[in-house]
Amino acid sequence: MVNQRIFSQVQAVGSYLPEQILTNQDLAEKLDTSDEWIQKRTGIKKRHIAQENEYTSTLAINAAKDALAKANMTADDIDLIIVATATPDHTFPSTASQVQHGLGMSHGAAFDVQAVCTGFVYATSVADAMIRSSQAKSVLVIGAETFSNIVDWEDRGTAVLFGDGAGAMILKAVEQDIEDPNPRGILANYLRSDGQHKDKLYVDGGVSTTQSTGKLRMLGSDVFKLAVRLGSEVIDHVLEASHLQASDVDWLVPHQANQRIISAIAKHYGMPMEKVVLTVSDHANTSAASVPLALAAAIAENKIKKDDIVLLEAMGGGFTWGASIIRW
Ligand code: UT7
Repeated sequence: MVNQRIFSQVQAVGSYLPEQILTNQDLAEKLDTSDEWIQKRTGIKKRHIAQENEYTSTLAINAAKDALAKANMTADDIDLIIVATATPDHTFPSTASQVQHGLGMSHGAAFDVQAVCTGFVYATSVADAMIRSSQAKSVLVIGAETFSNIVDWEDRGTAVLFGDGAGAMILKAVEQDIEDPNPRGILANYLRSDGQHKDKLYVDGGVSTTQSTGKLRMLGSDVFKLAVRLGSEVIDHVLEASHLQASDVDWLVPHQANQRIISAIAKHYGMPMEKVVLTVSDHANTSAASVPLALAAAIAENKIKKDDIVLLEAMGGGFTWGASIIRW
């Protein structure tokens, strides 16, 4: 109908964390670091690490199954799977197609999105565009990573920061009255990238350069300095596009890289920390999985409720950065 508009509404969010836990203390036994330093500089206490037989797709499939169960849906109801990952099972095929197979699906479409830590926000924006343009009706948007495979475990500057995990969000096309002043669903997305920052955060290997996987390299303090400014840039855009103020936001769900970055962003917008979802202490930085894992944790704690304004924000390698704003 002409007076209806399609919105992407969240049906459920699922998660999966590998059982194996690595504490700061465990790391301090192998590296010149301490629990005190890691907690003080990052807020991280522990991280989950995938076993050898747990691949990125394994984590993603478990998170997807959790989301489907929570939404009372089955894989038959899904017509598109987007997996955001920088640690795919293979160079090809996509991890998404392995997730599709793992869920017993042979219908619909599946592809990966690569925007490192911003991957989930990128995948959400792409899923929203596919739904709004009637190319998909029910989309599994997954962030899944096994960064433990690309971390240099001898580099204390990065080894302490990352963990493995997966989160999955189901978005569904719902038609709403164009006159409704408070439609539910994704209200706005804004994506950015700038390749000039590549050397500040990258993996020193790849198919066409070294024919190997490589290890993660980061100039931590350079990334830190830009994180707040870039995060604020995309948040400003989605607030403006959705005609909302920072004070309207019920929950800020940022990328979980460092508690000090998150606190600085919240402070910039005058948001009390009670409105900020924090999981970095328990999960560390899980790259594309961090935002959906934080969403799942907030829902499990009965924080996010129907009609709440939820703001997602992330920044990572590339650089890439982006934000999405959702009326839940
Ligand atoms: O997910 C993508 C986005 N990534 C991020 O957002 C990460 C952004 N960066 C950060 O979170 C922070 O920069 C770090 C946590 C990586 C580092 O914190 P920092 O406060 O920026 O520390 P720094 O790199 O300036 O290093 C301070 C000191 C150095 O020693 P000196 O030169 O002052 O003697 C480091 O060698 O801390 C030392 N250091 C450590 N000490 C104990 C670095 N890593 C460690 C460690 N344990 N693990």
